[in-house]
Amino acid sequence: MTTRLLGTTEADLAEAAEILRAGGLVAFPTETVYGLGALADDGTAARRIFAAKARPARNPLIVHLGEPEAAAAFAVFDARARALARAFWPGPLTLVLRLRPEAAIAPAVTAGLATVAVRVPAHPVARALLLRVARPVAAPSANRSGRPSPTTAAHVLADLAGRIEAVVDAGPCPVGVESTVVDLSEPARALLLRPGGLPRETIEKVIGPVVDPRGHEPPRSPGLVGRHYAPSKPLRLDARTVAPDEGLLAFGRDLPEGARVVRNLSPGGDLAEAARNLFRMLRELDASDVRAIAVMPIPGEGLGEAIRDRLRRAALDAGAGDT
Ligand code: TXA
Ligand code: MG
Repeated sequence: MTTRLLGTTEADLAEAAEILRAGGLVAFPTETVYGLGALADDGTAARRIFAAKARPARNPLIVHLGEPEAAAAFAVFDARARALARAFWPGPLTLVLRLRPEAAIAPAVTAGLATVAVRVPAHPVARALLLRVARPVAAPSANRSGRPSPTTAAHVLADLAGRIEAVVDAGPCPVGVESTVVDLSEPARALLLRPGGLPRETIEKVIGPVVDPRGHEPPRSPGLVGRHYAPSKPLRLDARTVAPDEGLLAFGRDLPEGARVVRNLSPGGDLAEAARNLFRMLRELDASDVRAIAVMPIPGEGLGEAIRDRLRRAALDAGAGDT
């Protein structure tokens, strides 16, 4: 199949919506990363996502909706979920909630779990498309499983050209790391399944402590175990020196001497800028002729928690699961 490259005119979005409504695969921009969309209420369509990405079937997908009000048909909202949705939707927050038994969501989307991940993206092109489709759309990041998430249409095409019907190109994603995933399916605690584009501290101001699931068994989020977002070259974290055969992923102004290939996430030390640049620069360093990538220390607060999480996962050399 030839993958259509679409823009963001009314006609382009009408075509993208038509392809989705017919059961096709369309990659589209969100404020976090590009997603690979298919109808979430159509098992045949949703299963094609797993095939196109080579994603394990046990790893559930996020259901994307054009407006917050639509989510209550699929998921059970308690007071915490309502408060977070009111504060942060549309935006880079995914809520894992109990799935309504009668909900029209294909079992392939939830990987058979009793919970469902829901999100209302803030990107105007994503919202316009989702409102046109007017059905729930399952969308993981639009990368091949195990590759860094795509933040441009070119990244999507590099991974998925010929495997999907279309990609809607709206330029680079403004946040650059995936949504924060919070599990509220149990009344007693809120779990941070994945740090992301909405900082943990911001969420905690609304619902109190959001705890780390590490140590809780079994893993709550099948896709969050082990290595992903991975460049194929070895990554060395918190590097204060750089070897002659290493590329440098820098942060700030105080760079170690000697790197031949350098990408600076943010010379001014701005974590939002660093998040925006992260996946593109990982892809660029990976495509260069360096043997390995040295990553300078990055602070852990705010968006730094998500950046450090993605780098830590990319640095693991083995593991199960991908997103
Ligand atoms: O920003 C984002 O979240 C992007 C854009 C496209 O919206 N999407 C994204 O999807 O990152 P994906 O599939 O790459 O990551 C979703 C994560 C996976 O790790 C998956 O395991 C987890 O959410 N997840 C989905 N449904 C879940 C559920 N019912 N319970 C626990 N974890 C779930
Ligand atoms: Mg992913």
